[in-house]
Amino acid sequence: MRVLAFNGSARRNWNTSALLEKALEGAASQGADTELIHLYDLRYTGCKSCFACKTKDGKSYGRCAAQDDLTPILAKVEDADALILGSPIYYGTVSGEMKSFMERLAFPYWTYTDPPQSLFPRKIPAGWIYTMNVTEAQMKDQGYGAHFAVNERVLRIVFGSSESLCSCDTYQFEDYSKMAAVRFNPGKKAERRAEIFPKDCAKAFAMGVRFAGGGTQ
Ligand SMILES: Cc1cc2nc3c(=O)[nH]c(=O)nc-3n(C[C@H](O)[C@H](O)[C@H](O)COP(=O)(O)O)c2cc1C
Repeated sequence: MRVLAFNGSARRNWNTSALLEKALEGAASQGADTELIHLYDLRYTGCKSCFACKTKDGKSYGRCAAQDDLTPILAKVEDADALILGSPIYYGTVSGEMKSFMERLAFPYWTYTDPPQSLFPRKIPAGWIYTMNVTEAQMKDQGYGAHFAVNERVLRIVFGSSESLCSCDTYQFEDYSKMAAVRFNPGKKAERRAEIFPKDCAKAFAMGVRFAGGGTQ
């Protein structure tokens, strides 16, 4: 059992990666091999519409033909038993690096049939972990759910299942007093960090446990 997680934040030790690490700890607690891949360490682009993956009888049918740092990562996905994609929310959706990764991950397996089907050979658990500044209520009011629904659908169609975990009102800065950010109340942010973020971490851990086949947490 091999579980891969992808960090779509440039920050290696902040909210998104912390939750992904918890999810992988959960998977490892069930005996899974785990790996956290930091997308910002890699040089790659999004899909360039070469359509090699869609060319009938082509040597790259169902595979991404682009050659860059994602090439070996996408080869690892072929053998993965579960995938967790984590991203901060940037302007209402995932970071640019995560979006580019999703295109390269999903499109080669995605068939232009009606309805779309998948060339990925197995059904595996797959899911999203999002972190963001907005509160749960703002997330709903500002329509983030529409983006999350698209992303969930992509993973569900390609890998057979999908779910999302949202961590809201995250602690964004090391020291709020040094930042021009009057919108935020540092005390409330710290409270939330102390009280709610550990609960989000527990949910991420439970996701990892489930994805690795343990219990129904
Ligand atoms: C360029 C940029 C755009 C952002 N846009 C949003 C946004 O639209 N909505 C939101 O709730 N948070 C937004 N944020 C805040 C981050 O999503 C939030 O702080 C997140 O938890 C950061 O993840 P990290 O700690 O793993 O880097 C933005 C942050 C940056 C740097």
